[in-house]
Amino acid sequence: MSHISYVNGRYLPHAAANVHIEDRGYQFADGVYEVICYWKGKPIDYKGHIQRLERSLSELQIRQPCTMQALTVIVREVVARNRLTTGHIYMQINRGVANRAHYFPKPSVKPSVVVVTKPVAGPSDAVAEKGGKVVTAPDIRWERVDIKSVSLLPNCLAKQLAQEAKAFETFLHLPDGTVTEASASNAWMVTPDKTIVTHPADGAILSGITRATVIKLAREAGYKVEERAFTLTEAFAAKELFVTGTTSFVMPIVQMNDRMIANGSPGTVALDLRARYRSYVDTVDPATAWDL
Ligand code: PDD
Repeated sequence: MSHISYVNGRYLPHAAANVHIEDRGYQFADGVYEVICYWKGKPIDYKGHIQRLERSLSELQIRQPCTMQALTVIVREVVARNRLTTGHIYMQINRGVANRAHYFPKPSVKPSVVVVTKPVAGPSDAVAEKGGKVVTAPDIRWERVDIKSVSLLPNCLAKQLAQEAKAFETFLHLPDGTVTEASASNAWMVTPDKTIVTHPADGAILSGITRATVIKLAREAGYKVEERAFTLTEAFAAKELFVTGTTSFVMPIVQMNDRMIANGSPGTVALDLRARYRSYVDTVDPATAWDL
């Protein structure tokens, strides 16, 4: 069975699923995307991802190519054709194809739509058991990182630093030392008095869908959660660090640059939240998982 991807109205073998060379996503990174976890036959937090997609489109004045219900039909068809059981759904909407000019094309230009699925086993338990390492880098992104745009070059540069250091992620920080988030996940710390802290979703970070669910699960479990900025200095002195995201769930971090965090083993709070998140995804009801 060949892998099928959707591109602009057609379901094609993945290798033949191409976009035009004058697509603005290609020329200007003029597009938005979502990555959704598909877990044991159902999408996780589908509605939240679609709401964020609608917001990203609206902030960039890209018109919706179709209703979100129609997009859901396409996504479900790609999932079905690939017999996906666990993996990721990637969707991207670009402003469309037009002769290259920086200003927006005519409103009649149709946005491009791509939907791809990828079977992956889920976030690595092996890394979680030992805990991951992060490196740090200045946050050199633009001021609209709240939009999930495909303009990801600074994120790629940051992730490459992690790759070269055999680290799991890169924590991004502002000139004053404030940790914003990581290159493709949200950053968290647990203070010595066991308060869980993560940067507010105020525009300086991407408002992670996993982040929102983990805040809810943590509060329900009785943890104190503060949405406030924290610095690299606080992070070095933290009891625990961890990251959250669609591809990592909750991942304990035990080392930042060349320094161990606390005793260098995954923290109890991070492991507990990882277990809680895992049981949350296990119990998402397939009957309502696609509801908008
Ligand atoms: N990244 N922050 C950034 C910069 C991200 O790119 C992501 C997700 C997150 C976590 O958001 P969520 O919990 O909604 O996945 C935070 C995706 C997975 C990616 O670019 O592949």
